[in-house]
Amino acid sequence: MDFHFTEEQLMIRDVARRIAQERIAPTAAEFDISGQFPLDNIKVLGENGLMGIEVPAEYGGAGLDSIGYTLAMFEIAYADCAHSTIVSVNNTLYCNGLLKNGTEEQKLKYVTPIATGEAIGAYALTEPQSGSDASAMRTRAVLSEDGTHYVVNGKKSWITSGPVARYIMLFAMTAPDKGAKGISAFMIDTQREGFHRGKTEPKLGIRASATCEIELTDYRIPVEDRIGAEGEGFKIAMGVLDAGRIGIAAQAVGLARAAYDAAVKYAQERKSFGQAIGSFQMIQAKIADMKCRLDAAELLTLRAAWAKQESLKTGARFSTEASVAKLYASEAAMYITHQALQIHGGMGYSKEMPLERFFRDAKITEIYEGTSEIQRLVIARNETGLR
Ligand code: CAA
Repeated sequence: MDFHFTEEQLMIRDVARRIAQERIAPTAAEFDISGQFPLDNIKVLGENGLMGIEVPAEYGGAGLDSIGYTLAMFEIAYADCAHSTIVSVNNTLYCNGLLKNGTEEQKLKYVTPIATGEAIGAYALTEPQSGSDASAMRTRAVLSEDGTHYVVNGKKSWITSGPVARYIMLFAMTAPDKGAKGISAFMIDTQREGFHRGKTEPKLGIRASATCEIELTDYRIPVEDRIGAEGEGFKIAMGVLDAGRIGIAAQAVGLARAAYDAAVKYAQERKSFGQAIGSFQMIQAKIADMKCRLDAAELLTLRAAWAKQESLKTGARFSTEASVAKLYASEAAMYITHQALQIHGGMGYSKEMPLERFFRDAKITEIYEGTSEIQRLVIARNETGLR
């Protein structure tokens, strides 16, 4: 692993930092309260290449690598976790998923508008009865007799950016008797007949990242919009999630760093018993424990991004590195935001400061794109070869 960043990687980090600090940080509390989708901010991110960081320029992206993406995610999550969720799903689950598995026509049609931020993309795997057990999905895609299209019926839940997405990568059963090997992947256009949006989820945190159910009723998908071969959908979904989990790890690191920096500043400034609280050993121990976890999370996330980058040359899977980073960074974010709030005392509990938002936002990183329990399962299965 090379600890030196290239000029391009530093450039995208700086662009992300500037937009995050100038536009996102000042509006984050407002969006948290209103729960509105930050469309104008997302458009600016898109215009600056941040909605398709790893997408080659011919499909409208910034043409950077996974390290560049990770550095940019650190900056955006530092300013606001909810914005970084929208950026992460757009970049990895959607754009990278299509880049890796789509045909040339699919990339031109479905990646370009999303990578430029003209439209928003989403990823639909989870269903009301199947979250961690993703292959237990019931959404059914039936090939028409003339073989020209599929007819899809079913419900998907917890769709990040679902309320605003134009295109969605959808997973559905084409051969239910085959289990995971009977799942196929498709592209859907939310403007076609048979697509319905359900209730928007009222959430604890990342409130500006809109999440909803979607329902498909006799929705027709032309065969040319199937991604990969029939039955390859589950492997596509899992491969895409490996990349997505690095984005969530990066998000957790950015958020944790925001909480950590606030805690250090407060510990230096707040006086109690005649001295700065940071001079008390109990606060010092908290700062030291937070710092160790923050640095470890950052390094594990960069290692996972590096492994993903290497996989382009070797074809090797990077599931373990991605799950280790996601598991460790999300638990570190939960710990660090909790301790940072505690150091702030009553002020940490008040909406006058961002600590309570950081704490609420951190929780989701232990849940979406695979819970901490699922990350442990993936790591242990990969390490032992046992199931
Ligand atoms: N890459 C490629 N292929 C993979 C893979 C990967 N990472 N992981 C598994 N596979 C393959 C396996 O090799 C296997 O293929 P073979 O039979 O040919 O060997 C096939 O897929 C089935 O694998 P498993 O038997 O391991 O599948 P399983 O049913 O036991 O499930 C699981 C494994 C790890 C539990 C998986 O279901 C999982 O990751 N669940 C969590 C789902 C999840 O993360 N959901 C998040 C939803 S998306 C979201 O949150 C997005 C958002 O909006 C922010």
